[in-house]
Amino acid sequence: FQLPIIVYITSSFRLISLARLCLPIATVASSVRRMSIQAEFQGIPEGMQLVEEGKAKIAVPKDVFYNPVQVFNRDLTMAVLNVFGQQYLAELAARREKRAQQQSEPPPEQQPDGLRILEALAATGLRSIRIAKEVPNVAKIVANDNSEEAVRLIKSNIVRNGVDELVEASLNDAVLLGHQCARLPPDERFDVVDLDPYGSAVPFLDSAVQAVRPGGLLCVTCTDTAVLCGSAFGTCYGRYGAVPYRGAGMHEASLRVLLQCVQSHASRHSRYIEPLLSLSVDFYVRIYLRVHRGQGEVKKIGRRLAMLHYCPECDSHWLQPMSDCGRDKAGQVLMRPARLLGVGSANGRCGQCGIGRLQLAGPMWSDSIHSVDFSILYVDNGASTVGEIASETEQPGCFELASSDRLIGLLSVAAEELPDAPLFYTLDGLARAVKRSTMPMKVARSALLNAGYRVSISHCEGNAIKTDAPASFLWDMVRAHYRQSGEQMSERHLGEGSLPKALLVDHPAAAGDGAASIDFSLHLHAEPPSKADGLLRFHKPPPNWGPKRVPSGKPMAMAQLLQRRPMLPPLLHRMTSLKIRMTMNFREHLAAKRNREK
Ligand SMILES: C[S@@+](CC[C@H](N)C(=O)[O-])C[C@H]1O[C@@H](n2cnc3c(N)ncnc32)[C@H](O)[C@@H]1O
Ligand SMILES: [Zn+2]
Repeated sequence: FQLPIIVYITSSFRLISLARLCLPIATVASSVRRMSIQAEFQGIPEGMQLVEEGKAKIAVPKDVFYNPVQVFNRDLTMAVLNVFGQQYLAELAARREKRAQQQSEPPPEQQPDGLRILEALAATGLRSIRIAKEVPNVAKIVANDNSEEAVRLIKSNIVRNGVDELVEASLNDAVLLGHQCARLPPDERFDVVDLDPYGSAVPFLDSAVQAVRPGGLLCVTCTDTAVLCGSAFGTCYGRYGAVPYRGAGMHEASLRVLLQCVQSHASRHSRYIEPLLSLSVDFYVRIYLRVHRGQGEVKKIGRRLAMLHYCPECDSHWLQPMSDCGRDKAGQVLMRPARLLGVGSANGRCGQCGIGRLQLAGPMWSDSIHSVDFSILYVDNGASTVGEIASETEQPGCFELASSDRLIGLLSVAAEELPDAPLFYTLDGLARAVKRSTMPMKVARSALLNAGYRVSISHCEGNAIKTDAPASFLWDMVRAHYRQSGEQMSERHLGEGSLPKALLVDHPAAAGDGAASIDFSLHLHAEPPSKADGLLRFHKPPPNWGPKRVPSGKPMAMAQLLQRRPMLPPLLHRMTSLKIRMTMNFREHLAAKRNREK
């Protein structure tokens, strides 16, 4: 259905007009400013600073609570809640009207009440205050924290921003609060529950899926991406109930592992999830999903979950569905056990390179990670003038976001992603396996498109090849590119038993003419649309970008430092950890030397 809302995009000087579904999207421009205590507010105690973000001005302890890195997370939430709120409240109104018609009563005159939102881990209350000021149709926001200091801060910030009618501070354990809400009748629970913890959100999931009203929105951040991306294998299994994948598409896999985990908690309470938007950003993952009620759907959830078979050498991968479905005589969907795909060769080695022993990851969510019905994704690049934008921004519901350029770029790329082709290869990864230079994106995309396959990039990775083509086609493409280049690789790279030799020379397809038939001529859609439009697609983080220390006042733990690992390319990461180790050894050596001297 049509959305009445328009979210404005101003800083790029063009309205990202609407959507393939004719749905207007909005976003916005402008300012995050940190200001000195003296400048604007009186009565801010020593050791505090005033921070202005979006439409909120809050006092925070210096350098502890406020992490500007998370501005994007909050901006994104404002945009999502604006769009979701309109869609959801319209649904509720339509449902009420339908119910009234069925009971042959006159349709209710009053509009639905507005969103009731729980920010379960609120810290300073900044997010809640921004929601109160930047999201229309909000009835109530509970800003909860279990720290007395945080709740004192939340209360003073509520007063400072004049939002005491909308935002209520709560001192409670988030898990207990969630369970208390779960006992309420479904329509009295929260329309939106936001979980934004330090580290993993897992401890809060079980109560949060119950605290959301059926059809409501759950927003989840996890900052333990290193764990989700496989740096601590056992920890990931213990925490998320899934074996992590450590390959080119690990950041997307981390979203899928988390979605699977939320679904497993939802399943226990006869609920199922509908992911609206799932993003891997900087050092964290952020997912927005609806939680619906329905035991019937829960029984069929196995077809949305899969195990991943992958080759640790060449990264070829195959998804094995957890279950299959058919129909009974009455046409009802029935679940049945899935048959094994038989992806490897008989001895468990990779069917493509024949060298790597296949490994298993998962279970993970294998269905779409974004919803095609969620209009925020459907940005189209209709040109517009600055004048038009200026006049549109007069409308109510308009808000300004500091990260609009980045938001537009990221959402555009997410919208481009093929919804039914989980995970991806990277051009770097394909090139690394055969020890050749990276194939240009346009060349690889042309080969896939000319062969009738679909292809997209991924918001997780700039040189991703997300496609419905089988792994065998990708390697045929790599072989064809090698052959057509006429380049001769050195003996050293094509040595006996080496991966390049296995893929380029020894593979049975290398002898046939499969590779010769690959057409690399430039395809009309060879360039990703978001690139052609010149959008800011991939964020280059400034120095020291990452999680901040927890408010205990302790320095950032090494574990937190290492959370940044997946952001670094593997070699750089190895070098960084080596450097840390060397520094530590050097310190120990110095200390020992001083002791000896004493
Ligand atoms: C990362 S901060 C939240 C930041 C906030 N959402 C924002 O956007 O500004 C996490 C907060 O969770 C709180 N917290 C941790 N465990 C909690 C629990 N069990 N119940 C309630 N709050 C908790 C901490 O005190 C901390 O203030
Ligand atoms: Zn392999």
